[in-house]
Amino acid sequence: AQATLTIDPAFTIGPVRRRTFGSFVEHLGRCVYEGIYEPGHPTADEDGFRGDVIELVKELGISTVRYPGGNFVSGYRWEDGVGPVEDRPKRLDLAWHSTEPNTVGLDEFMAWARKADVEPMMAVNLGTRGVAEALEVLEYANIAGGTARSDQRRANGAEEPYGIRMWCLGNEMDGPWQTGHKTAAEYGRLAAETARAMRQIQPDLELVACGSSSAFMPTFGSWEHTVLTETYELVDYVSAHVYYCEGDNDLGSFLASAVNMDHFIESVVATADAVRAAGKHTKRIHISFDEWNVWDQKRVESYIPSPTGDDWPIAPPLLEDHYTVADAVVVGNLLISLLRHTDRVHSASQAQLVNVIAPIMTQQGGGIWKQTIFHPFAQASSLAKGAVLRTLVDTPTYETAVHGTAGLVDAVATWDSESGELVVFAVNRAQDEATELAVDVRMAGLELVEATSYSHSDHTWQASPEDDTTVLPVANESARTTADGRVTLSLPAISWNVVRLR
Ligand code: AHR
Repeated sequence: AQATLTIDPAFTIGPVRRRTFGSFVEHLGRCVYEGIYEPGHPTADEDGFRGDVIELVKELGISTVRYPGGNFVSGYRWEDGVGPVEDRPKRLDLAWHSTEPNTVGLDEFMAWARKADVEPMMAVNLGTRGVAEALEVLEYANIAGGTARSDQRRANGAEEPYGIRMWCLGNEMDGPWQTGHKTAAEYGRLAAETARAMRQIQPDLELVACGSSSAFMPTFGSWEHTVLTETYELVDYVSAHVYYCEGDNDLGSFLASAVNMDHFIESVVATADAVRAAGKHTKRIHISFDEWNVWDQKRVESYIPSPTGDDWPIAPPLLEDHYTVADAVVVGNLLISLLRHTDRVHSASQAQLVNVIAPIMTQQGGGIWKQTIFHPFAQASSLAKGAVLRTLVDTPTYETAVHGTAGLVDAVATWDSESGELVVFAVNRAQDEATELAVDVRMAGLELVEATSYSHSDHTWQASPEDDTTVLPVANESARTTADGRVTLSLPAISWNVVRLR
């Protein structure tokens, strides 16, 4: 099979946004405890943060980190997590049937974020709480001093305000599983009043209203319409969340998951713009795609039983999915989808960062290892710079059971006019054979710098604590420049590929 990309550096979609490469730390399983935080670990610093984790977070190229949930936030009392640790209460975490020790809270997370050099993105509880508590945590975090909550922060050791700009107004409030789940009308009113009040403290906050938990939700579309009709002038973003997995041995549909993500994004944009037109608004609402990943619940539950009944453990190993090479290709393809919608997707967070459906895995008291999905994320985060380009993909197609007709090849390109580097990110969804790719860049003088591919003869290969290096992005030796100035290469079956030209 043969596919062609036509790219012109003059045709830009929008800037590559650093916030596209965000992640998510929730009080869930071993993400916080034994993940970012493990006092006594050989690499732990004076605050108990694992140095080996911070090192890999930097290598992964994470920009923003959403915190503290997730479903967890919908029952969370933020004030339990500040002040002297010995006075902090233990609480039931209903979302994950765990005990929350509150050893890590807002101040610890902010200290970690500074060390990891990431921007915090905070979520407030609109499940069991409301406007008053959202104002209190905002006052604690962002007011310089001279009020009860800001002075409390200073007394707790943080003299300077944190200046947190991005705030999520609750989490997945459309989901019946959410503590304090609401109808769209109920949530829309609460989100609007919370946003209005938070802006009375700080007008320039960037606020995210909850959109749907996936495009598969029965209320998808009408939820966004109702919520945005209530909140349009008060928020900046509507959220989108989605997780994909291979269903019923249907690898073809799974590999085409980005077709659904494209549809999801374009549907939310259309809905937001319809509310804009009907309400005679001038600004646009953008998307914060603040949970996305591959997550195979069948795979996870098969080897890690969730706590139930009287068992409320602290930091049990939950949602510790083990990713395959095919999963990494899908993750790369989802990044391609996010990048090509950079005009409307202004922020995104892969869920999650450590141990819980995560690219980084830790062993208690021991080592750290990279999952397969680490690699496409790290490459895209470090190499996508400048502007995202309209990328015309002329490709053979195949039929999928779930997403209809899908291209064998999907791709996007970025162009950094400062360094003069053009980068193509491409996946081959063909399962059994290579696809030949020709890259036609409508600009003279660019030469091939390098091409890498990530694939394996066994697409079910998973990394493990013993071996996380057998499959890595390696040089694609087939890449060459043709006499007419095109770059051609052979994309291996089920592969993620990066081509750099300069
Ligand atoms: O990321 C895991 C969970 O998935 C989050 O807590 C929730 O928001 C979503 O359903």
